[in-house]
Formats: sequence, C-alpha cells, structure tokens
Amino acid sequence: MQLICPVCASSLYQQERNLRCENNHSFDAARQGYWNLLLAHKKRSKDPGDNPEMVQARRAFLSQGHYQALSNRINELATQACKTIEAPRIMDMGCGEGYYTERLSEHLKTAGVCADLAGLDISKHAVKAACNRSKQITWLVASGANAPVPEHSLDLQLVLFSRLMPEALARTMKPGSTLLVAWPGEDHLRELREQIYSQIRESQFDPAETLKDYFTLTSVETVNTDFHLNSPEQISSLLAMTPHGQRLNQSARDKICALKTLDLTLDVKLGLFTRL
Ligand SMILES: C[S@@+](CC[C@H](N)C(=O)[O-])C[C@H]1O[C@@H](n2cnc3c(N)ncnc32)[C@H](O)[C@@H]1O
Ligand SMILES: [Zn+2]
Repeated sequence: MQLICPVCASSLYQQERNLRCENNHSFDAARQGYWNLLLAHKKRSKDPGDNPEMVQARRAFLSQGHYQALSNRINELATQACKTIEAPRIMDMGCGEGYYTERLSEHLKTAGVCADLAGLDISKHAVKAACNRSKQITWLVASGANAPVPEHSLDLQLVLFSRLMPEALARTMKPGSTLLVAWPGEDHLRELREQIYSQIRESQFDPAETLKDYFTLTSVETVNTDFHLNSPEQISSLLAMTPHGQRLNQSARDKICALKTLDLTLDVKLGLFTRL
C-alpha cells in the first residue's frame, strides 16, 4: 500500500523495516510488524481508541463465529465492488482486531482478486492483535481523520461499526470508488438492550445523510439472523465489546452477569455508497 508521511504528506518509501520520506521523516516497523504513523501531538488522549479489554472481548466474541454470516456478506459485496479493478487498493477503516479484514483478505484471494489491503485503527492494542492474523495485510496505527494514504488513491473503503468521518473518507477515495458501511439496524442486539435500558431508544444514525456531501447511496440491505449465547463468558464478551457495556450501571451489570444463556438478534445494515 502506498503510504504518505504523517508529518509532511510526501510519499513514504520502505526499506526493510523502515519507512522514510524525502524530508527524512522516518518510521520503524513495530516488532509485531505494523506501522505506527500516529503522531504523539495529534492524539487526543495518551492511549486513544479501544482499550486492551475491549480488544480482547471483541476477539473472544467474534472468534465464536456468531457474526460469520455478516462477514460473508461483507466479503461478497466488497469483492463485487472491486473484482474488475486491477490490484485494487482497499482500506478497512477502524479495523479493530482485524476479524473482518482477515476474512476479506482470504475471500479476495480465493476469488482471484490480487488486492492491496490495509487495516487502520487508532488503537495500538487493536492493531497489535490484528497484526498476528496476517502478514499480507498492511496494518496501521493512525487516525482515520488523517489516514496516511495519498489523496484519491483508494478503490474501496470499509467502515464497519466505526465512526464515519465524511470529509476524511472522501479525501482518500477515488471518484467513483465504493464505500461499504455497516451499522446496527433497529433490532440489533435488542434482547441485550432490553436487559440494560428501561426504554429502548431508536438510533437516529443516518449514514446517507451524514455522507451526502461526498457520497451517494447506491444500495442498502439488511443482514438479519438469530444467535444463541450459552455461557456467562460469551455474554460478558459481547457486553464488553458493545457501547452498551461501557454505559452500564452496576445493577444492570449484575443482572446480565447472572444470565446463563441469551438468545439474540443480529440486525445489521450494509450500505454501499459511491464517491462523487
Ligand atoms: C466498534 S469498533 C469496530 C471494530 C471493527 N471494525 C469490528 O467491527 O470488529 C470501532 C473501532 O474504531 C476505532 N477508532 C475510534 N476512533 C478512531 C479514529 N479516529 N480513527 C481510526 N479508528 C478509530 C476504535 O479503536 C475501534 O477499534
Ligand atoms: Zn515527511
């Protein structure tokens, strides 16, 4: 993946385990193999993004396969969007611990698409975990607000359950390229939310409205399945990886921790947007 310098925005050139620009800004690969291109003075906090517990919970939960059908559909849509492009450049923005990124990489390979794939997250804990999944993916610690790739260089970008930053996304994408967004539908994890909130509020999130200055909505579909958690450990992993887990008061936490099983609805929207 062609990368640019986070200090001066000129191209970075790789020599073994080092990246350097023409102005001699230099970045070493982390021991685990990822690139940390997040500048200390650009961080809003000392340790931004998901913390180690959330990363660990997300990995534990996703590895059980409850979201596999969703990942499969993401892979089909992504492959469809880039299969006619030679060596498409793809970014998984806010990739977390890399579950979807790695499965996409495998799927593209099987489909014969020779893609240049990067996973970016602001959490170094997430990228450290993602990194040991695959050496073929370029793993980046960086901010999505300032992704270290050239302007209009990406053919496909994915934002899965992560924050949408329209202007920053638009800067990196080629005109006519595809943005694939996943966000929770009305019934997503409803049974868990019912345990937490006395009244369930519908989300006001409207990606088409958020993105309208730079992207047009091409299609939207729903992935809807049921799944079953059959141990308190599985339930607490799910809780710890959702925003609901962060907002929980002690009595709701005790109530959920006492559950032995939980039947849940997965209800996720997948939107395809075209960069104007
Ligand atoms: C809900 S998680 C989703 C992770 C992954 N896409 C998944 O679905 O498993 C959101 C991710 O966005 C990351 N994040 C938050 N702010 C970010 C930013 N400004 N730039 C890049 N990543 C960010 C967090 O660290 C976290 O890993
Ligand atoms: Zn530089």
